[in-house]
Amino acid sequence: MEQSDIIVRAATSDDVAFAKIITDEMAESAKARGTGIAKRTPEYVAQKMVEGKAVIALSKDNEWAGFCYIEAWGHEKFVANSGLIVAPKFRNSGVARRIKHEIFYLSRRIYPEAKIFGLTTGLAVMKINSELGYKPVTYSELTDDEKFWEGCKSCVNYPVLMSKGRKNCLCTAMLYDPKDHPQPKETVKEFNRKSKLYERFMRLKQKRLFKYIASKRGEKTNGAAPAQAKAAPKVRSFFSFFSNF
Ligand SMILES: CC(C)(COP(=O)(O)OP(=O)(O)OC[C@H]1O[C@@H](n2cnc3c(N)ncnc32)[C@H](O)[C@@H]1OP(=O)(O)O)[C@@H](O)C(=O)NCCC(=O)NCCS
Repeated sequence: MEQSDIIVRAATSDDVAFAKIITDEMAESAKARGTGIAKRTPEYVAQKMVEGKAVIALSKDNEWAGFCYIEAWGHEKFVANSGLIVAPKFRNSGVARRIKHEIFYLSRRIYPEAKIFGLTTGLAVMKINSELGYKPVTYSELTDDEKFWEGCKSCVNYPVLMSKGRKNCLCTAMLYDPKDHPQPKETVKEFNRKSKLYERFMRLKQKRLFKYIASKRGEKTNGAAPAQAKAAPKVRSFFSFFSNF
C-alpha cells in the first residue's frame, strides 16, 4: 500500500459514522494484545470529532484506517494524545506515524502552551513519540487532574495503578514540554540507543508489577515481605521512569 493511498486529516462531524468501528477495534486490539486500555464509547469518540480534537485516517475508498484524539487536563496545562489505533489491514505502512505527527501538530495549534503527554505499552508508539521530541518521564511529571486518572478506571490494569499510589503502572509515560524539550534528533538517538533496553524493561516492569500485586496479597495473609519486593530497588536505580517499586 502506498502512503498516498491513505488520507490523514483532522476529523470533523462528517466522520461520526466511523465512531463505532473505531471503539470496537480499540477493544478488540486491547483484547488481542492482552493489555489494558481506557475504554471509550462511540459517543465520546464522536464528540471529539465534532470538536475538531481528533485525527482520522481513511483510504481513498473512504474505509476507516486509523484514529487518535486529544484531551486537555489540569486547566489545559496538559494535553494527552490518546486512543491511537490503526485498523489491522492498514498496519505497518506508516499510518500510525502520520496520525501521531498530525495530532501532535493539531495539539500544538489548539494548546500551544500545554505539555503533551501519552501513556503507552507499545514500542512503536515510543519510537514515534521520540521522533517528535517526547522523552520518557515518571508519572509524577504528568497531570494530577483526577479526571484524567479516572479514565484509567475502565482499564483492566487499574488495580495495579492504584496499588502503586498512581506512581506507576504497565504503561510508559512520555512527555513533550514546549518550553523545555530536547531536539527530536536527540530523542531519536536516545530511543535508538535504548530501544532494546526499553523493550526488556517494559517486559520486566509488567512481570514485576504483577509479582508486586501478588506479593501484596501475600503480605496481607502472612505479613512477610516477599523476595520480589526486596529485589525491586535495583530496577529503580537503573531506570527510574520505568519503575517505582
Ligand atoms: C501500534 C499501532 C498503532 C502501530 O500502527 P502502524 O500504522 O502499524 O505503525 P507504523 O507503520 O506507523 O509504524 C511506526 C514505527 O513503529 C514500528 N512498529 C510498528 N509496530 C511495532 C511493534 N509492534 N513493535 C515495535 N515497533 C513497531 C514500525 O516498524 C515503524 O518504525 P520504522 O518505520 O522505523 O520501521 C498499531 O499496531 C495498532 O493500532 N495497534 C493496536 C492498538 C495500539 O497498540 N495502540 C497504541 C496504544 S498506546
